[in-house]
Amino acid sequence: MSPSGTAAHPSSWWRNAVIYQIYPRSFADGNGDGTGDLAGVRARLAYLKDLGVDAIWFTPWYLSPLDDGGYDVADYRVIDPAFGTIEEAETLIAEAAALGLRTILDIVPNHISDQHDWFKAALKAGSGSPERERFWFHPGKGDDGSQIPTRWVSSFQGSTWTRTTNPDGTPGEWYLHLFTPEQPDVNWNHPDVRREHEDILRFWFDRGVAGIRIDSAALLIKDPELPEVPADPPRGGHPFMDRDELHEVYRSWRAIADSYEEPRVLVGEIWLPDIPRFADYLRPDEMHTAFNFDFMVRPWNAKELRESIETTLYAHALVGAPATWVLSNHDITRPVTRYGREDTSFAFDAKRFGTPTDGQLGTRRARAAALLTAALPGCLYLYQGDELGLPENEDLPLGVIQDPMHFRSGGVDPGRDGCRVPLPWTSDPAHAHGFSAPRPEGTTAEPWLPLPSWWGNHAVDVQAVDPASMLSLYRAVIATRRGEPGLCDGPFAWLDIPGAASSVLAFTRGDIGCVVNFGAEPVSLPQHSAVLLASGDLPDGRLPTDTAVWLRL
Ligand code: GLC
Repeated sequence: MSPSGTAAHPSSWWRNAVIYQIYPRSFADGNGDGTGDLAGVRARLAYLKDLGVDAIWFTPWYLSPLDDGGYDVADYRVIDPAFGTIEEAETLIAEAAALGLRTILDIVPNHISDQHDWFKAALKAGSGSPERERFWFHPGKGDDGSQIPTRWVSSFQGSTWTRTTNPDGTPGEWYLHLFTPEQPDVNWNHPDVRREHEDILRFWFDRGVAGIRIDSAALLIKDPELPEVPADPPRGGHPFMDRDELHEVYRSWRAIADSYEEPRVLVGEIWLPDIPRFADYLRPDEMHTAFNFDFMVRPWNAKELRESIETTLYAHALVGAPATWVLSNHDITRPVTRYGREDTSFAFDAKRFGTPTDGQLGTRRARAAALLTAALPGCLYLYQGDELGLPENEDLPLGVIQDPMHFRSGGVDPGRDGCRVPLPWTSDPAHAHGFSAPRPEGTTAEPWLPLPSWWGNHAVDVQAVDPASMLSLYRAVIATRRGEPGLCDGPFAWLDIPGAASSVLAFTRGDIGCVVNFGAEPVSLPQHSAVLLASGDLPDGRLPTDTAVWLRL
């Protein structure tokens, strides 16, 4: 049996895998310095094996000044010393593989760190130099070049251009950065950029990495004329988003991925409201899968989620790609927090300090969402800590916040650090609740972000022995999913629950039924021979509000 549980198609493991996302800084700290690292992950691989996942996706672990949590890569072939060494990464990949866990790495092709050799050389070489052609350097507008070349808005708010200073101290050209000034965009029309990324893919694929997650995958190519964004950009012709030329880049990456005996897998981070355009990236010679953000951002509402599921399955069927189901990641407000609010949808620009939250309600819904997403056909992503039901930590002291989204919003947006707080492993508060392994002298440094004191209740050691915990639920969900052929690759069909169509989602996967009640009143269950799993109690055999159940029909 392959790690995915699909003995017949080991090379299609990614079609219905459960993929666990590790944010290395916050997963486990193996050397007691307060920052998570590869030693910490190696020490906890057995935990992931027990959880039952098929693969691990690591957010960037490369050399980085961490201006954007590692999405500002200074050297792809070097592990950041805070995390470990390249030898340790190789050992980790091999140890994980020995446990049946595949490794997926993050590649950030749109931009690099301003500390990368290429950018340092470009700054030094000056305007008109070949070094600058690998980026988007441009003179400013106006007689003195003091006006920005375009009014494009950064994904992190504010301008996308920063002006350089010439060696003689006078103001120089501007350079483009769709994110922070520390993340200059590279020029994908330049052959060096293409060659370098293809080399990076091979570098990691040769080391046994099973696939890559492609960061900001729809942003790479820019219109070289640098026009302003029109009011109604033509499809495929936006100045910097979802341009038609992108597909050729991913076709070349797919050819590299397919050249390995076990083909490597490409997973896109693609935020596109245009679902058919989204699906275009998943054509058979492009990426294998992409994150389903449409589902993730929807409110906790039967009608909305039904619509998203239908659109998702329809669009993926057109290109023969499996869907993915994602409740959160290192950028998104934690589900137990989000689902406990009046507005249960997610939008970056709606995040505010002090939003009232009912944590119990959110947790009940997040438990139901675990059953819902794991029963849908395709691949399931699980962000570290969601299996513990961790809430967003919204009480971080302002002085510890690091996320540029917070600073670039002028402090209005709380930023994304609240979902990046280190995991609590032990209820005992020592060593940051077991996040840090003690150093030889027995001490540990403060964790890079503080854990709330009450997170001891959420610790792995408490939850592991509590059958009613979120961790026990996730373990049961993943084990049941793996053991039931219907949930692996059974056909999907909606199931009618008479009288409750608007407040219940019910569907079958082979002989398994999944029913989720979003309404205020309990509903009767369809005829079944057994209850396989439920996200909460079923008083009188009925399904209460915000609860999900898996049935053998
Ligand atoms: C992606 C990452 C996010 C990062 C951004 C810029 O959206 O998920 O964390 O800040 O790209 O690289």
